[in-house]
Amino acid sequence: MKFVNTLIVCAPAVSALWPIPQTYTHGDSVIFINQNTPISYNGKQATLSSVSTNSFASATYGSAANGSVTSAQIIGAAVQRTYQTIFNQNYIPWKFHHRNSDFEPSSNSSGAVVKSIKLVQNASDPADVGRPLVGSVDESYTLDLTTDGSVVISGKSSQGIAHGLTTFTQLFYKYSGGGAYTPLAPVSITDAPKFPYRSLQMDVARNYYPVTDVLRMIDAAAYNKFNHFHLHATDSQSWPLEIPSLPNLTSLGAYRKDLIYSASDLQQIQQYGATLGVEVVVEIDSPGHTASIAYSRPDLIAAFNSQPDWDAYAAEPPSGTLKLNSPAVYDFLEQVYSDLLPRVKPYTSYFHTGGDEVKESAYLLDDTVNSSSDAVLQPLVQKFVDRNHDQIRANGLHPLVWEEMLLQWNLTLGDDVLIQTWESVTDSVAKTVAKGHKALAGNYNYWYLDCGQGQWLDFYPNISASYWPYADYCSPRKNWRLMYSYDPLANVPANSTHLVVGGVVAIWSEQVDSANLDRMVWPRAGAAAEVLWSGAKDASGQNRSQVTASPRLSDMRERLLARGVMAEPIQMVFCLQDGESCGEVNEG
Ligand SMILES: *[C@@H]1O[C@H](CO)[C@@H](O)[C@H](O)[C@H]1NC(C)=O
Ligand SMILES: *[C@@H]1O[C@H](CO)[C@@H](O)[C@H](O)[C@H]1NC(C)=O
Ligand SMILES: *[C@@H]1O[C@H](CO)[C@@H](O)[C@H](O)[C@H]1NC(C)=O
Ligand SMILES: *[C@@H]1O[C@H](CO)[C@@H](O)[C@H](O)[C@H]1NC(C)=O
Ligand SMILES: *[C@@H]1O[C@H](CO)[C@@H](O)[C@H](O)[C@H]1NC(C)=O
Ligand SMILES: *[C@@H]1O[C@H](CO)[C@@H](O)[C@H](O)[C@H]1NC(C)=O
Ligand SMILES: *[C@@H]1O[C@H](CO)[C@@H](O)[C@H](O)[C@H]1NC(C)=O
Ligand SMILES: *[C@@H]1O[C@H](CO)[C@@H](O)[C@H](O)[C@H]1NC(C)=O
Ligand SMILES: *[C@@H]1O[C@H](CO)[C@@H](O)[C@H](O)[C@H]1NC(C)=O
Repeated sequence: MKFVNTLIVCAPAVSALWPIPQTYTHGDSVIFINQNTPISYNGKQATLSSVSTNSFASATYGSAANGSVTSAQIIGAAVQRTYQTIFNQNYIPWKFHHRNSDFEPSSNSSGAVVKSIKLVQNASDPADVGRPLVGSVDESYTLDLTTDGSVVISGKSSQGIAHGLTTFTQLFYKYSGGGAYTPLAPVSITDAPKFPYRSLQMDVARNYYPVTDVLRMIDAAAYNKFNHFHLHATDSQSWPLEIPSLPNLTSLGAYRKDLIYSASDLQQIQQYGATLGVEVVVEIDSPGHTASIAYSRPDLIAAFNSQPDWDAYAAEPPSGTLKLNSPAVYDFLEQVYSDLLPRVKPYTSYFHTGGDEVKESAYLLDDTVNSSSDAVLQPLVQKFVDRNHDQIRANGLHPLVWEEMLLQWNLTLGDDVLIQTWESVTDSVAKTVAKGHKALAGNYNYWYLDCGQGQWLDFYPNISASYWPYADYCSPRKNWRLMYSYDPLANVPANSTHLVVGGVVAIWSEQVDSANLDRMVWPRAGAAAEVLWSGAKDASGQNRSQVTASPRLSDMRERLLARGVMAEPIQMVFCLQDGESCGEVNEG
């Protein structure tokens, strides 16, 4: 990042962009923006306040894409969000200026205004823009705002332009006298993501969330330039995902009959994401993490809810795993997938088959196996996963799995399979790419948002002391600085970095529900968003500075609050008002 006016660096005023663009220069002139600013997309005219999702349908490239969303819908939705964000979900940045200072322009009528916004798409979207495969969409964009108020945002895809519009909104602040302004003109930005797969993951099975919570997470994810949303849809504790052809999976397996995601809810979630450039990837974890199937199909599950020794068979209560060598289980999976895959396909190129924390001992209680020996189990796990992946491929989708399938069970997996890593501190990504597979980074010691809450198990008095002070397995809580220090490319040899296609930051929900979701996720997930979009290193190859990131992340936090996301503060106002006065220069 370089600045035209270096004074801006020293002043507490924020230059506000999150994630930080690859190149960014700005000045210090004020420009207001009107609600009726003319905006065009490839020559097709409209005004900012009047754009609908179909306004640009007849523009060049507008109908180019195929499937769930067209280019014009992505652009239309992005312009609507731009309008909403600048005029209705904006904030007055007093926290980022000296105590009691007059930081605002003196009037909203004397200054320059944005005269026009020109959106220029240089190339046709790929047909799969609504359900992209990693790397198929060029997300780069340029943004130029001149001192006399002309704006040009260009991109090679509708998603690139949408990212440019997201960045554009972050240049503007609410004006206390009415309207909105940027203090940063002229602005020139060229930008592109470091990693093509940038994902937030949400577990909706340990605790249930209303659909509106899921949509709010997707909105905030898009605002942080995430482009995937991983829905961990089912687990041992509940099965909230409706499979219409198997109605009792949810009517018996959800926490309550109505705490479900119906087929139309899922479609709404996926359509909402696709329109925002966020591909919703559904996971049905298996063969472990499936005990909730036993409420409707007890014949399919081994070691179901073994008590009180559940921990002999599973990582969490209730224990229970799909039987590993059972034609009935295969028939069941065939039916679940036949029902679900064609419905998710319009919105995604991926389907996640899980595969984490498969515990050998559970298969001692599996009457189709009666063994906990790896030599017996490994070929059965291979066959199980092959069956699932074959059906996924037959539906035109690509499989995703948790790292254990490759690194612990040594399965032979197709080149099309993405491996989601989570376990060891630096090795899993490197080990995965060493086997020639594409990896997603997401080490739990950095990118699990739920860590550090302490235990949720209740300890009997006779053993309680041995767990005191009840830290959870991944405590302490991951401060945003720790999340920000995680480099997906750490320990990956230069000839394999192309195989690290991105990463996933995760919120598991054992101790999270609607009441604390927003502040558990935001703004910390933004730290991962910036690593994935901008890279862990700056243009000179150095670790990015917390000192310059911190006020920008606080600015993002205010912007999330303004759009209805109850993001937590990461500092007190003192640190924001007085620039770098909460910096630390001495070693700890
Ligand atoms: C739209 O998708 C269909 C099937 O997925 C494909 O055959 C067709 O070529 C696509 N059209 C365009 C314009 O990309
Ligand atoms: C699109 O084309 C314009 C004009 O040729 C160019 O200035 C701009 O950099 C291009 N944008 C992208 C993202 O390639
Ligand atoms: C200035 O504020 C007035 C009163 O709120 C508002 O009607 C007008 O649109 C604003 N002008 C600009 C340029 O934002
Ligand atoms: C649930 O429905 C299936 C048929 O889809 C049936 O085989 C099974 O017995 C039902 N479960 C219960 C507990 O009634
Ligand atoms: C596992 O043990 C049970 C009980 O002894 C028996 O009925 C079953 O046939 C055994 N299964 C296999 C695959 O050997
Ligand atoms: C996978 O391979 C490793 C290394 O050879 C071995 O230690 C491990 O037991 C294997 N896992 C299984 C499930 O066979
Ligand atoms: C602790 O107490 C529980 C409940 O009374 C009992 O089931 C368990 O066996 C005891 N554990 C040990 C290690 O003594
Ligand atoms: C940069 O960050 C990495 C990962 O956190 C760390 O191992 C390394 O020591 C840091 N480098 C410097 C110069 O601080
Ligand atoms: C990278 O280089 C190492 C060491 O030369 C080699 O073993 C490995 O196969 C290479 N990996 C790729 C993906 O080319």
